[in-house]
Amino acid sequence: MSKVPSLTLNNGVTMPQLGFGVWQVPDAEAAEAVGTALEAGYRSIDTAAVYENERGTGQALTASGLPREELFVTTKLWNDEQGYDSTLRAFDASLERLGLDYVDLYLIHWPVPAQDTYVDTYKAFEKILADGRARSIGVSNFLPEHLERLMDATSVVPVVNQIELHPQLAQAESRAFHARHEIATEAWSPLGQGRGLLEVPAIAAVARKHGRTAAQVVLRWHLQLGNVVIPKSVTPSRIRENIDVFDFELDTEDMAAFAALDEGRRLGPDPAVFGA
Ligand SMILES: NC(=O)c1ccc[n+]([C@@H]2O[C@H](COP(=O)([O-])OP(=O)(O)OC[C@H]3O[C@@H](n4cnc5c(N)ncnc54)[C@H](OP(=O)(O)O)[C@@H]3O)[C@@H](O)[C@H]2O)c1
Repeated sequence: MSKVPSLTLNNGVTMPQLGFGVWQVPDAEAAEAVGTALEAGYRSIDTAAVYENERGTGQALTASGLPREELFVTTKLWNDEQGYDSTLRAFDASLERLGLDYVDLYLIHWPVPAQDTYVDTYKAFEKILADGRARSIGVSNFLPEHLERLMDATSVVPVVNQIELHPQLAQAESRAFHARHEIATEAWSPLGQGRGLLEVPAIAAVARKHGRTAAQVVLRWHLQLGNVVIPKSVTPSRIRENIDVFDFELDTEDMAAFAALDEGRRLGPDPAVFGA
């Protein structure tokens, strides 16, 4: 079984560098998919209130029989629950659905700058952290300007910013900003949602060179950049394939071939305006 390395976050907590994402997995299928992932060796699971599969995810965690301290569970606060009191209530509801006493990481899902509530929201996150009900707190889809404002107004530096990131959207500016502030970069849609990205000829060529699949070399590219990755699949063979990436390395030529693919192309919404 693959041994997934961990990153040490800015608060000293360790997080597996590769985890399992469950966006678009229906609640009724989440227990099976997460169960397969845990059997394959994943220990970090990324869900969110808005995915509506925290219950199924929690069931798989319980059914696995794995000690709680070996798991790393992330969930996220949805946009319409932002605000101090509503965040505390939403967090309670997420914990209840997950069947857990604490999460390892709680994230603000989107900044929704037009709503202008992420600072108050994060203050509630700081309380949740102080109460020991989240081991770490962070954000998702924050642009550097949102992080600047948040860090000016609050005292706990987010441990991660989870952003859309794949070879066609390499996010150099955000990654450099994060590195300067010791914020880990976590890549969502790391496989470009499994669509055209995995057929790109330059990626296929790197895959052929290493005798690996396109998904595996894309995941290697992320890991070698230092990103946390959370590929999603409901297909057991792909779930196993995506974690089997710790026994080979891309060389500088391969990394350069990936760098040439960056075209700043988003698959998802623009955080500057989403949710307004
Ligand atoms: N914070 C945010 O705003 C945000 C936004 C989006 C996603 N996320 C998180 O990031 C996770 C991953 O992103 P994502 O689900 O958008 O996309 P992704 O992981 O880039 O791609 C998932 C898609 O790729 C396919 N796939 C997976 N492994 C494959 C392989 N080895 N070969 C070929 N196809 C493969 C999957 O198909 P099958 O499932 O059919 O196998 C699925 O359709 C999410 O699940 C979620 O946890 C967060």
